[in-house]
Amino acid sequence: MDISGKPYKAFIERQEAIKKQYSRKQAEKQHSKGKLTAHERISLLFDNGTFEEIDSFVTPADQPVEFGKVERSYGDGVIVGHGKVNGRLVFSYAQDFTIMGGSLGIVHAKKIAKIQEMALKMGSPIIALIDSGGARIQEGVASLSGYAGIFHNIIHSSGIIPQISVIMGPAAGGAVYSPALTDFVFMVNHTSYMFVTGPNVVKEVLNEDVTSEGLGGAEVHARKSGVAHMIYDDEENTILALKKFLSYLPSNNVENPPVVADDGSISDINEKLRDIIPDDPNKAYDVKDVISQIVDRNSFFETSELFGASLVTGFARLRGKTLGVVANQPKVLAGVLDIDSSTKGARFIRFCDAFNIPILTLEDVPGFLPGVDQEHAGIIRHGAKMLFAYSEATVPKITVILRKAYGGAFIVMNSKNLGGDFSFAWPSAEIAVMGPDGAVAILYRKELAESKNPVELKKELVKKYRDKIANPFIADESGYIDEVIDPAMTRKKIISALNALNNKWVKVPARKHGNMPL
Ligand code: HXC
Repeated sequence: MDISGKPYKAFIERQEAIKKQYSRKQAEKQHSKGKLTAHERISLLFDNGTFEEIDSFVTPADQPVEFGKVERSYGDGVIVGHGKVNGRLVFSYAQDFTIMGGSLGIVHAKKIAKIQEMALKMGSPIIALIDSGGARIQEGVASLSGYAGIFHNIIHSSGIIPQISVIMGPAAGGAVYSPALTDFVFMVNHTSYMFVTGPNVVKEVLNEDVTSEGLGGAEVHARKSGVAHMIYDDEENTILALKKFLSYLPSNNVENPPVVADDGSISDINEKLRDIIPDDPNKAYDVKDVISQIVDRNSFFETSELFGASLVTGFARLRGKTLGVVANQPKVLAGVLDIDSSTKGARFIRFCDAFNIPILTLEDVPGFLPGVDQEHAGIIRHGAKMLFAYSEATVPKITVILRKAYGGAFIVMNSKNLGGDFSFAWPSAEIAVMGPDGAVAILYRKELAESKNPVELKKELVKKYRDKIANPFIADESGYIDEVIDPAMTRKKIISALNALNNKWVKVPARKHGNMPL
């Protein structure tokens, strides 16, 4: 076929021009910073040959600017499109730092908004690969309005399709709010950073010296602010992890999560669980060992590992079906609930609830963290988020009390009267208003003060308290829990409970929305 005719000639010329635009020199510049190009990221994310780019030839808006140049590039610094990830439809946009620093002008913004609206209409996840200097300065208010439209779309898609951001370079200024509004944020160590105001402004306003990394690097956001949920050392590993992560999630809120084939290699009865908790009730252990003995082999994907670490959250599978796991971590601060772990838990529970993911709670919690710092920073308000999230969630909710379940923390961790569906306890469980030491000190203050041997008396009273009050049998006999179980039978019991809850249906009264404490 002769394609030298006029329309084809123009077509080919444009193809050649766009190829030239993405030059080797630009790619090398990205690589020299330890970063990949936007195209390389897209091809790592999508199954081979499945990505279809749209709007690749749009050009930037004409701006009557006297200030700064607008590069007449095709695509306006962002690649948008759809394709398959592990065989499932996913939409994505990838900002291209090599074109005007990936900055967001109005055309760039409209491309993102278009793909967001498509993802919502098709009920498919959207992945944002962010590498951008923020609002394009030359375009002024148009670029700010562009961001506003993107934020609006994220908020209105929230709870309908999974939205995930991956920070692979700068995310500065108001631009950080687009990832912050999405469900999960991945960051790449040492090459990505997020801050509302950069180091220069910090220096100017507060006269403080800080680097970009120190102010808003991946480690800071994963450990301190909680903005980043997952961090990895390079872009390849970040994208690999993201693909694995997606495999746990449904495409939208009316689908169930995908089920992977269960090879049946894990026995539902596991005697190792009988000895997993130390005999000494005050000795720590790693609750992740308990999780891995219950769920399908190597299926646990932890979220927010470094933040609020006294609570462990993550996705796992049971007989191939996705499960959200929330577990107190006795290894960190004895597993207390503090501000960070409460907000982390509440957000995770709400995500599971929005996307039809049953929640398994493993409980060993001595209470809320006491202290002036926590009280003044609002542990009451933040702890209330956990209560709200658990109680509001209508997905199947199962609790296993492993050891301590004291006071308000017993209530919070999905207790039956808060709406938990099944509550099991191991024989090692201690269910009470408070721990034995505290209880004895309050109830027997006078006797202890008058005793000739207070240490011995206290020991005796603590034992009596454990035997008579802080055990699971009273709660079992009075119906506050469903059953004290042999730890070896835990997986079997959870599977049976989930089967029983398969068609769980809760009628929620009509209202605009609840008023969660924020
Ligand atoms: C236009 C921009 C730009 C921007 C970078 N560039 N940011 N162009 N608007 N916002 C351009 C640079 O001029 C440069 O063009 C190219 O991108 C690469 O940038 P460099 O500075 O050379 O790269 P680097 O040294 O790696 O620094 C990256 C950076 C820095 C840290 C992101 O560029 C920077 O601080 N940019 C401004 C960040 C910012 O304050 N943005 C506005 C935030 S306010 P040439 O032609 O030289 O290659 C905001 C409001 C959102 O986003 C509102 C939402 C509510």
